[in-house]
Amino acid sequence: MKLFEPLRINGMTVPNRIAVPAMVTRLSGEDGYVNQDVTDRYVRYARGRVGLIVVEATAVHRAKSGPLLRLCGDEFIAGHRDLARLVHDVSDSKIVPQIIHFMKVARSGWRQTIDMLSEQDIERIIGEFGDAAGRAREAGYDGIELHSAHAYTLSSFLSRRNPRRDLYDGRSLEGRLRMFGRVMTRVRQVVGEDFPVGVRFLAEECIKEGYTVEDAKLIALRMAQLGVDYISLSVGGKFEDAVHREGQPLYPYTGYSGDRCMPGDWYPPLPHAHLAEQIKQYLNARGHSLPVISVGKISDPDDAERLLAEGRADMIGMARQLLADPDWPRKVMEGRRDRILRCIYCNVCKNLDENFREVHCFLWPKGLRQAPEDRADALAPRWPAEGAGLSATCEGGQIRLVWRRADGEGVAGYDIYRAEENGEGRILEAVKSPKALDRTVLGGLAYTYYVRAYDASGHAGPPSNAVRVAVPMPDYVTEQRARHA
Ligand SMILES: Cc1cc2nc3c(=O)[nH]c(=O)nc-3n(C[C@H](O)[C@H](O)[C@H](O)COP(=O)(O)O)c2cc1C
Repeated sequence: MKLFEPLRINGMTVPNRIAVPAMVTRLSGEDGYVNQDVTDRYVRYARGRVGLIVVEATAVHRAKSGPLLRLCGDEFIAGHRDLARLVHDVSDSKIVPQIIHFMKVARSGWRQTIDMLSEQDIERIIGEFGDAAGRAREAGYDGIELHSAHAYTLSSFLSRRNPRRDLYDGRSLEGRLRMFGRVMTRVRQVVGEDFPVGVRFLAEECIKEGYTVEDAKLIALRMAQLGVDYISLSVGGKFEDAVHREGQPLYPYTGYSGDRCMPGDWYPPLPHAHLAEQIKQYLNARGHSLPVISVGKISDPDDAERLLAEGRADMIGMARQLLADPDWPRKVMEGRRDRILRCIYCNVCKNLDENFREVHCFLWPKGLRQAPEDRADALAPRWPAEGAGLSATCEGGQIRLVWRRADGEGVAGYDIYRAEENGEGRILEAVKSPKALDRTVLGGLAYTYYVRAYDASGHAGPPSNAVRVAVPMPDYVTEQRARHA
């Protein structure tokens, strides 16, 4: 499979095409040091054979924030060194920290914007990026990633809503690009030519008057001209449309652009793959071959493989899916894809992050801080002797499903599969107890359901009996149709 072909990025050989993009864990204290829980989280990805592990946003400066890793002083290097070493000890995975500068936010809803930065502030920020990058190299990381996405400082310069009116003038593309260019230049001076420097930026801002993929292509081209070694794409996640909650600092994933950044279960799979594809094609057509990482609701191995095989991406980034099951690469490699604990995009992880609480996955057994171990030899849950007894009733435009509890040690939950008419069965949601309500059916269509129980490591038992329900058309449609007939 193309998924398991190695990729060389400026001297770093990534063993396969699977990346876990940066995901804040909130496992560190406010002191910003790497601790055991943080280490365990990343070593777990390495044991699962994730090719490129991007460590969560790590601050280049000392500004106050909730729990967040830091590389803003030499005292932080030792913890990162241990983390990088442990990842290297267990696998050939590569590990790079994502380094971030962010501006101040207050509980009142006030936030600092980039037009409030003086020339000295800008020089200081550039220096802080360079110093943090140098520390990352000293810590033994394989490279670094510059966080130039979402609501943070570098992204705010790239934004079409950049309010500055000087050398960094938001009214021109060149003005918007200057800050990133200066940061990249400094970082290169510090880390040298042979150290991989990737960047994360937005393929679309997804805010009113924000930039779209048209600008993103040009931004990517400039990044390639500057010697960036890979591009990881995200979308949205901006302050401009964030919803302020009384007494809370603004969180940039509360508005529409936040929905787009971490698309929930109501979005189709792969909502952003076309953006990565366009940017990659634009770069390739101009002679630049730096890898482009496509991200956004990718979880199916066939979808991932197809994106690579069709040349629509160079690497596949999966954030929430790999959080749910860091063993995804190993399971696919070993032909055990039926054992993958499939992300249902419920966004419990996103809500935990928003509330500065330790980020874990809803699908894990209660109380676990890390993904459960893959117990390849454990028996999958099974249905009781009398069967699952799945039944479905249609009430008021919703389908109520009930079934018997599965047997076996450690039943962690149930995946509910649904097929529309005679289509393919896809996981609709996962629940912890044997009942569910499907509120997303359309009258006039027929649906087939079945359920599979899974254990903590994603090992699913056999499907239950299948039930088919034809949802009646609402009266107002039938009457309207009768009038037209
Ligand atoms: C809990 C959580 C924390 C995140 N933290 C970061 C971060 O530190 N830096 C970043 O660039 N993106 C962050 N993201 C965004 C993800 O990297 C990713 O772009 C997004 O979840 C969409 O990918 P997915 O559909 O594979 O989950 C975070 C997402 C989640 C759910």
